[in-house]
Amino acid sequence: MLRVAVCVSGGGTNLQAIIDAIGSGVIRDTKIVRVISNNKNAYALTRAESAGIEGVCVSPRDYETRELFNEALLACLEEAKPDLIVLAGFMVAVPACVIDRFRGRIINIHPALIPSFCGKGYYGLHVHEKVLERGAKVTGATVHFVDEDLDHGPILLQKAVDVKEGDTPQILQRRVMEEAEWIILPKAISLIAEGRVTIDDNAIAHIRES
Ligand code: GRF
Repeated sequence: MLRVAVCVSGGGTNLQAIIDAIGSGVIRDTKIVRVISNNKNAYALTRAESAGIEGVCVSPRDYETRELFNEALLACLEEAKPDLIVLAGFMVAVPACVIDRFRGRIINIHPALIPSFCGKGYYGLHVHEKVLERGAKVTGATVHFVDEDLDHGPILLQKAVDVKEGDTPQILQRRVMEEAEWIILPKAISLIAEGRVTIDDNAIAHIRES
């Protein structure tokens, strides 16, 4: 049984996609053991509660220093004893102590095709604004392992999505979620649960055929 901790900040539609995929058997032998939000008002926490999953808020606002918050986040994750940590719209920079402790066991969903439209400043709606500003005709989403550099670790899955004439950032964000994020994030967890993913010495992720 793969024990998964999911970190969230907002609406939690990616969390919902994971919950649904576990419920329908698309992801097997997997349990979400804890949902952690940096924002106590995140609707994702309501989704967790409705699914009978423990939800915990660990907010930087509740700690005097960033270091104390980082330690609290690490402690909250360690307590859940996860095999895998999934960042599903988590708007907090993951502290080095967490990356170090769970190296190779943290994945993130980014709403663009890495290495395009990623890195500093590329989060949330901004990603889609930049795609439209540049006039790109294809975008998409990427699931990657997390290392010390932003949006940089080994790429696990990607899915392309067309940009259409007349798109607004909001319309494009929704299409990227529906056509890519909600599909490849559950798929990535499923591949990891089935033990089919390895990372080689060159930091390339490989997926074994089933
Ligand atoms: C998604 O677009 C994700 O890729 C991005 O933040 C959004 C989170 O949406 N990093 P939700 O909270 O899963 O609905």
